Amino acid sequence: MVEMQQDYFFSGRESARKEAFEHVWSNDLNDIFADLAEYYDQANFVASLGLMNWFHSRFIATFDLTNAHKVLDVCTGTHAVSRALLRQKPDLEIHAIDRSAAMLKVGAELAKKEGVTIRSLQGDAHELPFPDNHFDIVTLQFASRHLRIMHAFDEIKRVLKPGGYFYHCDMLRPDNKLVQHAYYTFLKASLTATACIFGSTETALKSRKYFLNVLKMFYSAPELSQLFGELGFDAISHKSVFGGMLGFHKAMKPI
Ligand SMILES: C[S@@+](CC[C@H](N)C(=O)[O-])C[C@H]1O[C@@H](n2cnc3c(N)ncnc32)[C@H](O)[C@@H]1O
Repeated sequence: MVEMQQDYFFSGRESARKEAFEHVWSNDLNDIFADLAEYYDQANFVASLGLMNWFHSRFIATFDLTNAHKVLDVCTGTHAVSRALLRQKPDLEIHAIDRSAAMLKVGAELAKKEGVTIRSLQGDAHELPFPDNHFDIVTLQFASRHLRIMHAFDEIKRVLKPGGYFYHCDMLRPDNKLVQHAYYTFLKASLTATACIFGSTETALKSRKYFLNVLKMFYSAPELSQLFGELGFDAISHKSVFGGMLGFHKAMKPI
């Protein structure tokens, strides 16, 4: 397990992220997602002016899948990735894990409506309840900002089969200062507007500051590629859009 026993290039940033956000990760995040769960998908669409859905479709298009693959969707939320993959390959065996019972409940209702089977369970991304070398593909969408990322990615590598692929996508920290400024200004306005439209509770309203700050301390696309390399992944590639505001990565567990 990684947990900073070794000196990695990003150990300092990870310690700083942990110090700044651990109280939110441990105490508040579940309440925030419990509040958001019922309207999470719609709020995402409104807050991003539809761009998240467009980006999600582009991410899904990068998967190289066969019906025989065994897939794990980490921080699955309302099963957006699992459901999209099952639309492509209805016979896939998909397992999904998330800490939030509320998000999983909404996901289960959506999966039922769509007539797909997702083997989902409640649990923590830092302690995946699966054996070593178990999955052909692991995916993580829009959640790694909320994790002790080196620990979680190391855990993902553990459960991947040698030669298996990790598909990751998230909002990232742009390198360019002007793009950063535009991005943060847009996010601040859109989070406030979305909270008002959907009548969020006090907990979710307070979380706006967290969502901005956690992004400001997060990784750019090239940094994330470097981090994958340090953790021992191979064949690492990334693509970012909108000046690095969003990006997806693909990395293989060495054979
Ligand atoms: C922004 S949502 C993304 C959900 C989904 N992947 C998607 O793309 O719509 C973040 C999810 O991460 C989950 N999460 C946050 N920290 C977690 C942890 N330590 N272990 C498992 N799930 C976690 C939250 O409960 C929430 O459902």
